[in-house]
Amino acid sequence: MTYTKMSTAPASELNLNSEYIRRDQLRLPDRLLAILNAMDQRVPGVPITRYEHSLQSATRAFRSGNDEEYVVAALFHDIGDDLAPYYHGEYCAAILRPYVSEKLCWIVETHATFQLFHYGHKVGLDRNARDQYRDHPWYADAVEFCAKYDQNCFDAEYESLPLEFFEPMVRRVFAEPTYVQ
Ligand SMILES: [Fe+2]
Ligand SMILES: [Fe+2]
Repeated sequence: MTYTKMSTAPASELNLNSEYIRRDQLRLPDRLLAILNAMDQRVPGVPITRYEHSLQSATRAFRSGNDEEYVVAALFHDIGDDLAPYYHGEYCAAILRPYVSEKLCWIVETHATFQLFHYGHKVGLDRNARDQYRDHPWYADAVEFCAKYDQNCFDAEYESLPLEFFEPMVRRVFAEPTYVQ
């Protein structure tokens, strides 16, 4: 590569660059799994680690018969919680968007607001903040996600499946950016 500015870069180098970027994207599953592993640290005030919470969410989603995209979305729904604590749903949805359905992205994107229903009133927040989405076609789906696969996934006694179990699903879901238009 010889270019110093994109505006004057030859098309041949930019095409090659795109190819390298595409190849680099194939390593996304490895990076995401590494991020998940790094979440296996205790956070004060939370009974289990974010890693355990994520496995529990994915395990419950899997055992309830949800499809692979749903299970993978559940597995990653809280990544970014440490980097974007006020907007981790949006952060995570941006990562998932090319690989899972629009509905699942919306559920992940808004889940922190729906989650408030289960605890907000105990900490001075509006538990009914989810009402702003009451007429949204996926409202009930987001309610279900938080009720079944998020707010209840802090049980230290629950026997989650190991990350290795979900790894092939992660690699399949992230194999192609199916939802990029
Ligand atoms: Fe969350
Ligand atoms: Fe969560």
